Amino acid sequence: MDVIRPARFDKDPTARSAAGARPRRGDGPILEDTQGRPLRDLRISITDRCNFRCVYCMPKEVFGPHYQFLDRREILSFEEITRVARIFRSLGVEKVRLTGGEPLVRRNVEDLVAMLSEIPGLDLTLTTNGSNLKQKAQALREAGLRRITVSLDSLDNAVFQAMNDVSFPVERVIAGIEAADAAGISPVKVNMVVKRGLNDGSVLSMARFFKSSGHILRFIEYMDVGATNGWRMDDVVSAREILRRIDAEMPIEPVNPNYQGEVAKRWRYKDGGGEIGVIASVTQAFCRDCTRLRLSTEGRLYTCLFATEGFDLKTLLRSGTSDAEIAEAVASLWKRRGDRYSEIRSAETVSLKKIEMSYIGG
Ligand code: GTP
Ligand code: 5AD
Ligand code: SF4
Ligand code: SF4
Repeated sequence: MDVIRPARFDKDPTARSAAGARPRRGDGPILEDTQGRPLRDLRISITDRCNFRCVYCMPKEVFGPHYQFLDRREILSFEEITRVARIFRSLGVEKVRLTGGEPLVRRNVEDLVAMLSEIPGLDLTLTTNGSNLKQKAQALREAGLRRITVSLDSLDNAVFQAMNDVSFPVERVIAGIEAADAAGISPVKVNMVVKRGLNDGSVLSMARFFKSSGHILRFIEYMDVGATNGWRMDDVVSAREILRRIDAEMPIEPVNPNYQGEVAKRWRYKDGGGEIGVIASVTQAFCRDCTRLRLSTEGRLYTCLFATEGFDLKTLLRSGTSDAEIAEAVASLWKRRGDRYSEIRSAETVSLKKIEMSYIGG
């Protein structure tokens, strides 16, 4: 493990500056891939199940009543996840994001949050569809969660229901966001995937609603993730177009990133109404700075969101392998990594049999 430098955890990466931003990252050991990118983030999918069937993620035709989700014995336990997170922390990972599927449908998720919160210097966060957030917010905060991202694609109930495809009412997600805020998990980041012809008419109403709310709305370009959503370039509304529409009504200006490799490009309202972000992975790929590794629900590691194959970590975890040996295996995987899917997207890559986002984690 020659490229790993000794750990120097002299700064707390979760601490915030006066402006609310996290300080520059890169104060841990440095493990670099073939493109010189350090390993900084681990995204852990804790369940492949979800109570929504968003048309761009888990279309009903595929994820219907006969879809085989993972068996309970196959998925990593809270103890296994915590062990993995500790090992990754020792390799320089600074942020852990819990994803899914829908992470809040995993029973006693707050217990996992409590276990992970004990790892020193880890920035712990979670991405949820918000459906159970009202009930869970207080318990999550008490377990140590300090920030959260909620997916919300429209404020128009008919549009929102057409997207979640399970008739889930939008008010309950809004109530979840308010509950998180009230519990002290804030600011809340709100993710809106924009798909042309479906919810692009909701861009301005979302911007108006979250302006001056203290929450940070981010618009995500619809991606060709997985192999089931029937993605077409024509359905993508570019970040540029989204920003142009917002700027025409509510003037905005760019803001410097919080840290190198930040996924969202930040903008702020010129009148002081707070900030928004755009995640332009289709039209402005950000692979050059990609520091993320993903752990699937059943314990496979993926070096790219668009990967077709993963590395079986679970077998190592369940066969008496030591922490040092696991760290060695992960380091070797990262050092071989050369992924840059979004930069090389083409007609051929779009039709590859990629892993579903609900399995690999968003
Ligand atoms: P914070 O800065 O910690 O709030 O996190 P973030 O900006 O990375 O936000 P989040 O993890 O919520 O990511 C937002 C969305 O960006 C995800 O849901 C994905 O749709 C997309 N995204 C995140 N990471 C990647 C990535 O590595 N590649 C691609 N192509 N898209 C990504
Ligand atoms: N394109 C862009 N974002 C997506 N997400 C899920 N599927 C896609 C897709 N095809 C987003 C969700 C959520 C996060 C987990 O990933 O909206 O914010
Ligand atoms: Fe569920 Fe999130 Fe996928 Fe929607 S985007 S189906 S809420 S995992
Ligand atoms: Fe990282 Fe792959 Fe996304 Fe590029 S496409 S930013 S390499 S996860």
